[in-house]
Amino acid sequence: MTQLQASAFSGADDPSLYPLARICDAIALSISADRLNARNIAEVYALAARSQSAPALFPAWSITSGRDIGITSWAGFGLYEMSFGDALGQPIFVRPPYMQIDSAAIVLPRKRACFDEEDRDAIEVMLMLRKDDIEALQQDGVWKMLASEPKRTRASVIPASPQSELYAPYAAMPGRRNAVSARWASLLPPTQPDSVVTMAVLFPRFHLTEIEDTSWCPDWLRDHAHSSLARLWQVKSSNGNSLAIQACNVLLRVLGGIDTVADYTIVDACSGAGGPTPFFEKYINKQLEASGHDPVSFVLTDWAPYVKAWQKLSEESPNISYIAEPIDAAKAKRLAAPGKKECRIFNLCFHHFDDPAAAKILRSAIEAADAFFIFEITHRTLPSIIYTTMASAFGAYSTTWIEHRWSPFHLVFTYLIPLFPFYYIFDGVVSCIRGRTAEETSALLRHQKGVDLSEWDIRHGEEMVLPPFGTLFWYSGVKKSSGETSRQVT
Ligand SMILES: C[S@@+](CC[C@H](N)C(=O)[O-])C[C@H]1O[C@@H](n2cnc3c(N)ncnc32)[C@H](O)[C@@H]1O
Repeated sequence: MTQLQASAFSGADDPSLYPLARICDAIALSISADRLNARNIAEVYALAARSQSAPALFPAWSITSGRDIGITSWAGFGLYEMSFGDALGQPIFVRPPYMQIDSAAIVLPRKRACFDEEDRDAIEVMLMLRKDDIEALQQDGVWKMLASEPKRTRASVIPASPQSELYAPYAAMPGRRNAVSARWASLLPPTQPDSVVTMAVLFPRFHLTEIEDTSWCPDWLRDHAHSSLARLWQVKSSNGNSLAIQACNVLLRVLGGIDTVADYTIVDACSGAGGPTPFFEKYINKQLEASGHDPVSFVLTDWAPYVKAWQKLSEESPNISYIAEPIDAAKAKRLAAPGKKECRIFNLCFHHFDDPAAAKILRSAIEAADAFFIFEITHRTLPSIIYTTMASAFGAYSTTWIEHRWSPFHLVFTYLIPLFPFYYIFDGVVSCIRGRTAEETSALLRHQKGVDLSEWDIRHGEEMVLPPFGTLFWYSGVKKSSGETSRQVT
């Protein structure tokens, strides 16, 4: 540049170049050292490390292929307001030029005047993906949900160019802005509760009593519901996976993949009729066998042991055993064999514990185990209450029909006098009222004296497992291996 004549720069006074220069300015400013500092970089790493729903999110981006996704926004550049001189005037329609960039997601600028009144709040996102990734996206429950709401959402997939291997799904999502930002916010570290957008809970938590928790609840009533729950775990979502398999995928992802799971014994601490455990067992051990590992052992415990159901499960799999004596999860001792790590799972049961008992369970897991997972589908949200009520009624009627249709007693108290449906729905709604947000669970864990979490990786998330209402809420803790300073979700 120093060798150029001064006249070479005279064109810089041409006003039509100013808008472009301002865009370059904005980009340069956004990546300048006073904006992009160590804090920003740490935030990106924390976000990636805690990502629940994007199993391969890394703080880097390969534009040719790979597991990364790059998200950028052109929305705030004011491109529609710019003038490109007398000849070109102002932009009518702004779109990026076609580029073959895998996994580029661009939030586009909007020209509000182009939209109908009801579309004014739209955000438009253009995302380029490989054909196989697009096909996977089209099977995704959340995407399907968005795409199936034609009034509120326009979502479509178009090839980026006729010859291209890349496809550009295009979604305009009027009124979806909050939902989208809430999803991202839920990825933020739970240590920053102020910046976490909590789930839309309707009311404070009340620790009401479920019928099954009372001393007068007969075993036949309790067992009926537990068998129904065990069946609920098998219900398949639109993506072809059962609730149990989707929960198991969370467990595998957070523990660090199938090779890491091989080190654990998994203790189902409030097992009921076994819940998802037999499905976890098959799913995990099949993968372990394929990769040449020994199978993982599963141990069923409960303070009201359902021995008849457990016996059957342990006969069906040598990797499932049980403890026939009542074990209170709040006073559980370590059960893993020497040399094995212990992972405790709490399926659809954490809401049963009042705050002091829940705090003890978390403390015991931190002190005596190496990992724990809490899975819940009941919560203080409208979708969860609707889902629970429907699933409870269906569960009561179907369980009597499937398991007890030769029993006049069960038939009468299900179809004539709806005792079973009432019990299911009552306990289901009380379970919702007793649900905890991740922040409430975190508070129980972190506000205890003497609990050292420095060696623990605590995460939480929620997944739409049975659209449109059935959400899996999960909360996990994994002890870091010695020498490990941070975990990556794989
Ligand atoms: C809603 S059922 C869930 C059963 C099973 N985990 C499933 O997903 O189908 C709740 C279970 O928690 C058990 N439970 C409640 N309080 C407990 C405690 N303090 N210790 C151990 N188990 C407990 C109950 O006996 C019951 O089996």
